Amino acid sequence: MGVAVASAPAKVILFGEHFVVYGEPAIVMAIDKRAYAKVEARQDKRLFIHSQNLDLSAFFENGNVKVEKGDPREAKIKLEPIRCAVEKVLGKAGEKVGLNVEVTSTVPVAAGLGSSAAVASAVAAACGAVLNVKMSKEEVFRIAFEAEKIMHGTPSGVDPAISTFGGTMLFQLDTGFKPLEVKAEVPLVVGNTGVERSTRVQVAKVRGLRDKYPQVVEPMMRAAREIVLQAMEALKRGDLETIGELMNINHALLYGLGVSDESLEWLINAARKAGALGAKLTGAGGGGCMIALATKERLEKVLEAVQRAGANAFVARKTDEGVRLESS
Ligand code: MEV
Repeated sequence: MGVAVASAPAKVILFGEHFVVYGEPAIVMAIDKRAYAKVEARQDKRLFIHSQNLDLSAFFENGNVKVEKGDPREAKIKLEPIRCAVEKVLGKAGEKVGLNVEVTSTVPVAAGLGSSAAVASAVAAACGAVLNVKMSKEEVFRIAFEAEKIMHGTPSGVDPAISTFGGTMLFQLDTGFKPLEVKAEVPLVVGNTGVERSTRVQVAKVRGLRDKYPQVVEPMMRAAREIVLQAMEALKRGDLETIGELMNINHALLYGLGVSDESLEWLINAARKAGALGAKLTGAGGGGCMIALATKERLEKVLEAVQRAGANAFVARKTDEGVRLESS
C-alpha cells in the first residue's frame, strides 16, 4: 500500500442547467482545469484530509472530527463530501486503513465549474489505487455522486458524471449520459464573478418558483429542451453562430428563473459588447461563472473585455479525459 495521485476535470454546462434537475436534457463539457487528490496510507487508523484550496484540514476517527486548520464549522461541512468518498472506497476494500488525503485544484471553488465533483472523483480514484480496489469509472461516478448529494442536496448527477467520464455529454436524468461528438473547436471564455454561492440554495430557489408558477415555468422547461436539441445539431455541424444565439436564449430563461445576478449580467454584457457570439451563466448561477463563445479571431478581445469588467477569466478548452490516475 503506497501513494497514489489521481485527477479529474472541471466542467462547463453549455446548455440546460437547472432544467436538468427536472428531467430535461443538458449539454456539458469537461474542460482543461483539473482537481488533484494525493492519497497515502497512514501507520494509524485515522483519516487526515487537507484541502489546499479551501485551506482546511481535519482528522476523522470513529465519528469524531478534530479540525487542524480553518474554521471548525466550515471544515466539518466542506470536508464531509471528501470523507464520504473515502469511506465508500474503504467500505469496498473491507478493511480499516488510515489515510492521508491531500486535495489541490486549479478549479475555482463554488463557482459553477463542478470543483466539488472533480475533487470527489479524484479522491475516489486515488483511494481505490492505494487500497487496491479495482473500480470502473461507473463506480467512481457513483461514489462521487453520493459525495455530491451531501454538498448540494438534490443534484442531478451531471457534475460527477462529466468529471468522471470527461468529453462532451448529453445528460438526462432518465436516460443518463450519452457522449456527444463535437468536431468543432468550441472557443470559450470563462469569467468568474468571484461571488461564491451555493448550488443548493439556487436549486431550491428554482424549485420554489416552479411550485409557485407551474404554468409559467413548464413552458420554460419545454423551451430549454428544444434549445438543447437544436444545440446538439449545431454542435455536430460546428455552427458557432447558432450555438451562440441559443446560449443567449438559454441565459434569458435562466434569468427568468431568478438565478442570474448583477455580477453575472455585468460580465455577460461585457462579453457580448466585445463581440461574443453568445454568453450565459454556467452552473447554478447566483454568482459563480459565466461563459462566452467567440470565434478564434475574437476570443482574445472577449477575454480582455471580461477581465476588464472585473472577472478572473481564462480561455477554456474541452478535454476528453475524465478521471485518471496520475501515479501510483
Ligand atoms: C450545477 O452545476 C447544475 C445544476 O443544474 C444542479 C444540478 O444539475 O445538479 C444547477
